[in-house]
Amino acid sequence: MSNRNRVIALIDMDCFYAQVEQRLQPHLWGKPVAVVQYNGILAVSYEARKYGVKRFMNLEKVKEICPEIALCNVPSGEHSDKADLKRYRDASDDVFKVLNGYDSRVIVERASIDEAFLDLTELVDFIIASEDLPEKYSSSLDLFPTTYIADGNDLNEEDNPEWQYDREKTLKIWIHKACNENNNDLLRLAVGAELVEQIRARIKEETQFRCSAGIASNKMMAKLVCSRHKPGQQTVVPDYAFSSILRNTKISSVRNLGGKLGRAIMGKFSIQTMGELSAISLEEISEQFPAQAKWIHAIANGMDEEEVRERDKAISIAVSKNFTGSSALFTVSAVQSWLDGLMKELVKRLTEDQIKNQRTACTLHVGCTMDAQFGKSFQIVTYSSDALYNSAWAIIRNFNKAVDSNAWEPPIVNISLSACRFRDGVDVSSKRITDWICQKAKALVSGEEDNLPSGSFPIPVTDSTDDEAGTSRGFDFIETVEQKPARYVPPEKEFLPESLEDIPEDLLADMPEDIKKELTLYYGQRTPNSGKKQKPEVVPKKKRGAKKRPLTKVVEQPAAKKISDFFTKKE
Ligand code: CTP
Ligand code: CA
Ligand code: CA
Repeated sequence: MSNRNRVIALIDMDCFYAQVEQRLQPHLWGKPVAVVQYNGILAVSYEARKYGVKRFMNLEKVKEICPEIALCNVPSGEHSDKADLKRYRDASDDVFKVLNGYDSRVIVERASIDEAFLDLTELVDFIIASEDLPEKYSSSLDLFPTTYIADGNDLNEEDNPEWQYDREKTLKIWIHKACNENNNDLLRLAVGAELVEQIRARIKEETQFRCSAGIASNKMMAKLVCSRHKPGQQTVVPDYAFSSILRNTKISSVRNLGGKLGRAIMGKFSIQTMGELSAISLEEISEQFPAQAKWIHAIANGMDEEEVRERDKAISIAVSKNFTGSSALFTVSAVQSWLDGLMKELVKRLTEDQIKNQRTACTLHVGCTMDAQFGKSFQIVTYSSDALYNSAWAIIRNFNKAVDSNAWEPPIVNISLSACRFRDGVDVSSKRITDWICQKAKALVSGEEDNLPSGSFPIPVTDSTDDEAGTSRGFDFIETVEQKPARYVPPEKEFLPESLEDIPEDLLADMPEDIKKELTLYYGQRTPNSGKKQKPEVVPKKKRGAKKRPLTKVVEQPAAKKISDFFTKKE
């Protein structure tokens, strides 16, 4: 299918992290707000942008130019002082729930925490075939309250003092053209724009968040025009306007040209704009960039055939921490302590992801920057943070060139841990343990613990399609154990404790032997002997039938962790 026939939208949330903070503290709506991480500004509300507040601006300067600004700190992680972006990821999920639930004919691709590409083609085709659009659109422009047509004149790019622009008038002429000139491509874009108005209104209704959008026949142009009339607006770019829109567009602001490749193009041809790039022939581009020439030449003219791929889940889950300047790590103990904290953060996120998306990561990449970048991957066998730490430590310790026993050379300036290659499903052993513990915990809380079965219980089958997909891809360890609906489905916010010691004695005392065995396997991943202790076998600290400590006592003991801590994700 030619890309000219598609209707693609890019939806991007306005000042996203700032809106998340405004939603948490509603008195901040409509006020200047900035989100701060390690004394740097990460996100700025549009009210604050009016004062000139920008990302990465010095905090002192920010307070000087906008004294009434509300500064909201990104929370710190539970296991390290690394920023915890969970509240923004959760807010992002709220938005994607709306997008994914809108219409099954719309393809949704998560492009980042706050943006999504939508392929609206199929739904647009259906609407064109089933509705009298000229009639519908001729009566009123109310269906397009925030739509701009990018025709080159919609922005005063050259600071022309005579510049004037009438959004409604331009829109009216354009819609008339779309309906009456039998111009199917324009009509399709108009329908796309109407749909995106509805989708954005629904996002606002269900999440309170405002967003902007770009609508075009391909991803690159949709993304490019999305920010043209931010915030709270959407911009349609018809194909005939591509060249005038691109003429003054900086090469670095085009999707996929923001990095190395864009800089190389600007350097090699001594150019700055897409207009200049479009004047260069395919042959000339091929001489400098043989592998990418065709793509560059097409993009220069606003042509992009990249498909919108159904994707709602992140392709990797990563944590990373910079140790710049004087904070560089130069002792073994510091590296171990950070690796441990980062691994715990990663496992926390992986476990949340496992429960939410019913999938398990297969590979973990350990990266470390010293005087150069080093990295290596290993296969993930369990989500036990200690076991994963052992494997990661076995890799990272080899990068240390110091002779002195506790020294680390050259000092580490970054550690990153990235889990990827997800397979569908949760392997039976970890699910079985989680389910047993969740059930037990629930019973303890409700005071019905004596009614629990003492042996194994049916393992809830997650989703038959997951199992099919798993089997067909050769994941033979995803078993379908029980076809009956589960008697107890653990609430979403529960997960397996990170270490064996974290499991309360009461639970261990009552744990059936087969679950105990699996638990030992789960926590005892065999890894190369390394700087950290291996986990012991499960030995119940209390005998079965021993007097159970009442739950309330556990909760009240200051030194002991609360039972709910073990099974509930912390905010
Ligand atoms: N973000 C970040 N680090 C980056 C880029 C973005 O933490 N290097 C965060 C920002 O704080 C932001 C969110 O990711 O709130 C989305 O980024 P972006 O869309 O670029 O900016 P917004 O703040 O949403 O502002 P805009 O309205 O211009 O889209
Ligand atoms: Ca954004
Ligand atoms: Ca964005």
